Amino acid sequence: MHPLLSLCVVWLLSMALALEEDSPVDSFPRDTIGLFHEEGVFNYSTMLLREDLGLLVIGAREAVYAVDLHDVSKKLASVKWEVTQKQRQDCGNKGKNPECKNYIRILHEMEDNRMYVCGTNAFDPECDYMSYTDGQLTLEKKTEDGKGKCPFDPYQKYASLMVDDDLYSATSMNFLGSEPVLIRSPEVIIRTEFKTSWLNEPHFVSFAHMPESVNSITGDDDKVYLFFSETAVECDCYNKLVVSRVARVCKGDVGGERTLQKKWTSFLKARLECPVLESQLPYIIQDAYSWCDPEQPWTSCLFYTIFAPQSDTSDLSAVCVYKVSDISKVFSEGKYKTPVTVETSFVKWVMYSGEVPSPRPGACIDDAARKAGINQTLDLPDQTLQFVKNRPLMDQVIQPVGGKPSLVRKGAMFTRIIVNQVRAEDNKTYNVMFIGTENGTIVKAVNYNGEMFIIEEVHVFKSPEPIKILRFSSVTNQLYAGSDSGVVQIPLATCERSSTCMDCVLNRDPYCGWEKETGKCVACSKSQNKVIQSVQDGDASLCPKPAPSTPVNQSVWVGGNLKLLCTNPSNRAATIWEQDRQTLSPTRRHHFLKDGLLILNASDSDAGVYRCLSVERSKTNEYTSTVAEYQVTIALSGKGDDIQFPHAQRDGPSVAGLQVAIVFFAIAFFGLLSWNIYKGHFTRSCICRDKSAQLSPEVHEEMALDSSNNKQRTGAESKPLVCDTNNSKSQSLYYLGMARGSTGEY
Ligand SMILES: *[C@@H]1O[C@H](CO)[C@@H](O)[C@H](O)[C@H]1NC(C)=O
Ligand SMILES: *[C@@H]1O[C@H](CO)[C@@H](O)[C@H](O)[C@H]1NC(C)=O
Ligand SMILES: *[C@@H]1O[C@H](CO)[C@@H](O)[C@H](O)[C@H]1NC(C)=O
Ligand SMILES: *[C@@H]1O[C@H](CO)[C@@H](O)[C@H](O)[C@H]1NC(C)=O
Ligand SMILES: *[C@@H]1O[C@H](CO)[C@@H](O)[C@H](O)[C@H]1NC(C)=O
Ligand SMILES: *[C@@H]1O[C@H](CO)[C@@H](O)[C@H](O)[C@H]1NC(C)=O
Repeated sequence: MHPLLSLCVVWLLSMALALEEDSPVDSFPRDTIGLFHEEGVFNYSTMLLREDLGLLVIGAREAVYAVDLHDVSKKLASVKWEVTQKQRQDCGNKGKNPECKNYIRILHEMEDNRMYVCGTNAFDPECDYMSYTDGQLTLEKKTEDGKGKCPFDPYQKYASLMVDDDLYSATSMNFLGSEPVLIRSPEVIIRTEFKTSWLNEPHFVSFAHMPESVNSITGDDDKVYLFFSETAVECDCYNKLVVSRVARVCKGDVGGERTLQKKWTSFLKARLECPVLESQLPYIIQDAYSWCDPEQPWTSCLFYTIFAPQSDTSDLSAVCVYKVSDISKVFSEGKYKTPVTVETSFVKWVMYSGEVPSPRPGACIDDAARKAGINQTLDLPDQTLQFVKNRPLMDQVIQPVGGKPSLVRKGAMFTRIIVNQVRAEDNKTYNVMFIGTENGTIVKAVNYNGEMFIIEEVHVFKSPEPIKILRFSSVTNQLYAGSDSGVVQIPLATCERSSTCMDCVLNRDPYCGWEKETGKCVACSKSQNKVIQSVQDGDASLCPKPAPSTPVNQSVWVGGNLKLLCTNPSNRAATIWEQDRQTLSPTRRHHFLKDGLLILNASDSDAGVYRCLSVERSKTNEYTSTVAEYQVTIALSGKGDDIQFPHAQRDGPSVAGLQVAIVFFAIAFFGLLSWNIYKGHFTRSCICRDKSAQLSPEVHEEMALDSSNNKQRTGAESKPLVCDTNNSKSQSLYYLGMARGSTGEY
């Protein structure tokens, strides 16, 4: 074998092995609509949608950008917010050199249309007001202390939320990051008690606001929920155990009169469980997204959360969904945990079974309290406040909907989640989850009647970097994802990637359907027609029958290699190769690659009709479709097979290339022939040619066989382009009969 050819085969084989290890749902690269990146600027991890202004405001390192919401690659304005030389020096002196920059961490909209911005500011957090007028972003330079609002350390996890111009922030108050707080500012500043029973080395994840006062029959208050993880105080174990929590406070809380002065009187927390099978240690919450049906009351809202393993030993991530009403019930009706001292120093947390004071500790001020003359938290009795100060933890553990994760997946760790509801062709609504990963991909999944179905995973960033933030705009119906290197804008679906009805329907993407009229897979929202879609069952029998395909002619030399291309459109489908209706299995000479079948060292038995079939099981049926069909013919050994058909080894000869070769060799042959006749050299091959004109195809085949035997005898390893006279007869026959090409003989 030619050394280059063997190199090529080795390369193809190693490729085949690498591809076999892929996960069932593969990552497609996706053409993003827009990409925003500013030269030399990193850490695009904060975003604020300003749909009213048609803007996406992006917070990065030392700068804030305003880009077009419809096309993020269009920068409309920017403002720098850099640390001063002195600040950088002071920070550097404390040994924090690389982080001595201003990482923008907080971006919120104010009621007066301005924006509130905070940055880490070289370990000296500051906040400012920012406005967008006449196409300009302007910082007002009314810098405010950002302590307790924005983290000092850009690597520290934090959460923030703006409700009615009140900033709720969960972060650390000090340089060392050892003083965690949940704080509300600026009107009436209320914070958490600095006690390990309140917050114990927490990692804050996110906030959510619930309008629980709306239409409340008990005159309840709005709540703010906080998701975080922390070291469990209640654990009877020697090692540190991290657990996930949800805490909540009342919007109207103004603190106590003497006890819990300027502290939350309504801070209650509970443990969140996301039981991933076979896991010893609890999984840890990474992100939470609150999803509410705008037409339903808050009680129907759901929290979609993602969890990652506590140790690095597992590469599973999970999605757990919690009902807000379940969480709310635990806080409003559940039992509390209480610390009891055993053996002088050891504290054990057990369920509190004693009498609970009234009003209920941690409850918001409601009509019942008002009736009792308690109009605000300042009026709360000391007994209630003492109770909640010492017992902020609920006894009950909150379980996800269905008692188990909605999705568990092996692979790149989940980092962010967003949920979008869509009404499909069956007139039912589905919540589609878009999950960002550590690897720069977005996983799209839907729950169809309890069956979690992953539609696709798409690469949105070229390099495998974590997705730091995800946002969705209902104005543009697009997703926005931020990472350290930039911001991308992505559509909810790319239906046009499916080129056949079967692929379109079996994808079960609720955003896509097959339009019979145009023969295209289209976004349902953009189609006026009724489209073919079957999201629950993946029933592709609704699809029109595809037209029978005509096989593509391919040819290979005996001893040569041929690749028949076939890329299965679906990653859930199995690819099957057939030769003359017989299923092929991989052998040393037949290699099943991701994008085709590789036939090595072809022999006559390799001739025939090859079909590449895609077999996909859906809930209702198994569907087989022909993706590609080839008529393979075997040419005689050409002694220079890899020279004449340089593409045959990798791509297979193209039809156009063949035609050119045929014309070229026909001309060359007749040129040489007439030259020979002119010179009076009547050679054997000429006579043979005359005979061959009368030979039947069967004879041709015999001759070809003969030739391949010749080749074996004379040594297949002989150098190409070296003329083998033994072969000359059959070769010239062959070239005329099949009109494929020629060897160096001519
Ligand atoms: C900022 O981006 C750089 C470059 O990608 C990265 O190395 C660094 O870890 C990021 N810093 C933070 C705080 O995310
Ligand atoms: C509570 O408010 C009601 C009316 O709003 C008032 O009559 C009552 O005196 C207030 N109670 C206290 C303790 O302030
Ligand atoms: C992340 O992506 C890289 C390159 O795209 C890949 O090699 C790696 O296997 C991926 N990791 C996971 C866990 O999927
Ligand atoms: C679809 O469902 C909605 C509410 O469930 C209903 O109002 C509407 O009439 C339905 N549309 C069709 C075409 O059935
Ligand atoms: C393939 O070859 C056959 C004869 O062997 C011919 O009838 C057919 O038209 C060819 N097909 C194509 C696509 O060239
Ligand atoms: C190709 O196949 C023939 C038999 O068909 C065998 O003798 C030969 O060694 C093979 N060549 C290679 C490089 O495997």
